[in-house]
Amino acid sequence: MSTAQQFVREHQVKETLETAIGGVVTLGGWVQKRRDFGSVVFVDLRDRSGIVQLVFDRGRGTSEAAMDAANKLRNEYVIIARGTVEKRDEKSINPKLQTGHIEVVVSDVVIENAAKNPPFYIQDGIDVEEPLRLRYRYLDLRRPEMQRMLMLRHQVIRAFRAYLDDHGFIEMETPILTKSTPEGARDYLVPSRLQAGEFYALPQSPQIFKQLLMVSGMERYYQVARCFRDEDLRADRQPEFTQLDIETSFLTAADLQAMMEKMVQKVLRDVAGIEVEIPFQRLPYSEAMERYGSDKPDLRYDLSFVDLAEAVQHSDFRVFQDALAAGGTVKALVAPGIASYSRKQVDELVEFVKAYGLKGLATIAVQQDGTVKSSIGKFFTDEQLGDIVSTCGAKPGDLILIAAASRKEVFAALGALRVKLGQELGLADPNVYKFLWVTDFPLLSYDEEEGRYVAEHHPFTMPRYEDVELLTTAPEKVKAQAYDMVLNGFEIGGGSMRIYRRDIQEKMFQALGFTPEQAYEKFGFLLDAFEYGTPPHGGIAFGLDRIVMLLGGSKSLRDVIAFPKTASGTDLLMDAPSAVSDAQLDLLHLSIKE
Ligand code: AMO
Repeated sequence: MSTAQQFVREHQVKETLETAIGGVVTLGGWVQKRRDFGSVVFVDLRDRSGIVQLVFDRGRGTSEAAMDAANKLRNEYVIIARGTVEKRDEKSINPKLQTGHIEVVVSDVVIENAAKNPPFYIQDGIDVEEPLRLRYRYLDLRRPEMQRMLMLRHQVIRAFRAYLDDHGFIEMETPILTKSTPEGARDYLVPSRLQAGEFYALPQSPQIFKQLLMVSGMERYYQVARCFRDEDLRADRQPEFTQLDIETSFLTAADLQAMMEKMVQKVLRDVAGIEVEIPFQRLPYSEAMERYGSDKPDLRYDLSFVDLAEAVQHSDFRVFQDALAAGGTVKALVAPGIASYSRKQVDELVEFVKAYGLKGLATIAVQQDGTVKSSIGKFFTDEQLGDIVSTCGAKPGDLILIAAASRKEVFAALGALRVKLGQELGLADPNVYKFLWVTDFPLLSYDEEEGRYVAEHHPFTMPRYEDVELLTTAPEKVKAQAYDMVLNGFEIGGGSMRIYRRDIQEKMFQALGFTPEQAYEKFGFLLDAFEYGTPPHGGIAFGLDRIVMLLGGSKSLRDVIAFPKTASGTDLLMDAPSAVSDAQLDLLHLSIKE
């Protein structure tokens, strides 16, 4: 190892591009690849900024010590190399590298550290089981595509911060050790050492604190806030994730939404050069459900449901009649261009919806010659079938898929089928960013298991003013002053105007089934605070990880979080969660139930 001449890194690889031919650079980084031609050794050197070719060639001035070192180099060794930037001759130009027209002819090199053979290649597009990547996350994160994601994340956060700073927002931190709430079935708990048998909870969001900051007169708050939720995980859900959390005083919902649209527009433009149109489309929740069976529809394609209640009302088909008689619905999806699907392919779609509680799907295939082939043909006259086809606006080649059941079941099943078909048929343009606001959510829904109403969003959301009285008489009819921002089928943000008067908050707690004593025990601090001059206020929180995932064109949150957890909530690198010693448990006044 060459230790005779120690030197430090002075340049990043990308700076070789700005260095004049013949200029000297001192680079530091990792060996990406080494090719040995005996008297000449080529090494691709990688750092965060890129890759450049190093040449070790005695005939071109490489020292003996450096030639020796070159022979020892292996992938992922860390080296510092000094050399001269030279033009490559025409035939060895590598158009795939940004630095492909130059090379650095090394005079001296220091091997800073050797490396074991990594368990996977440090390059883009590798086909490796994710658990192995997560176990060796520090190596996974060396790969350029992962580095690009983390840099994108940084840029996105920076752009959001810049916008909010320019608009009078103050970044404030709120506690991580906080209080478990009765709505907090999914809280992560932290046992207290000093108060035996008592627990802190990690925040599911800074919701109450940001509202208290409005009571404090801070007027405009934001935070890049870590949130913790012990939920069942999916590709777009992590147990700890980051919100861009925002709260404002004295703004109306419309003011806030307009400001947030401008913010998102600017962030996409500045970070990714993407232009989006504002104002975003507004879609009331009930319409979103009736048309797309989802409160976060991907509107890059239409594929909306067609209501067939009228078109089928005179048919004798029991399945449709029973559904309608029971207050349910009959709705269709018109899948473009797949009338020719085989029996097996159609059966697969039917199996798919069964998982959502439907008993089946009726189908009508519109043939190229305009005639129809239907699974329910024998229950309908040709005229009735023709009616359905024209109600659906189906064209030759289309396959009409019809579901009849309760609204809830039809929405869930056809909603999922819409997403599946959207993917299978490639209906969504990956280069389009389709934003919308979903508005007018119900405030409460009845939870059969709990036997009471629960808040659809959270218990601090303001009902529409005209609905306040309904809180005590017909809670299910109350609409919320709440809104979600949706992008390409993902809920990327959710917020609301808040209750800021004690009497309304008490009514809300009552609707949620709390006695006044229970409400005061849990939320007395908030009810008290509302009596000391609380401004009207409201806000929103964006799922930062989801936004970066969508901008980065990734399918999983794990790609945009440096150290994510698996679907079962484990950290494979640290091996968390893990058992702790009895002594630790004792200190915390805990024992483990066998
Ligand atoms: P909400 O619960 O809708 O609202 O969360 C806001 C946004 O956070 C993102 N999100 C998640 N991202 C990754 N993993 C998760 N497990 C996860 N859960 C939620 C979503 C969501 O839109 N306090 C309110 C906000 C407010 O009213 O101001 C709240 O937390 O993108």
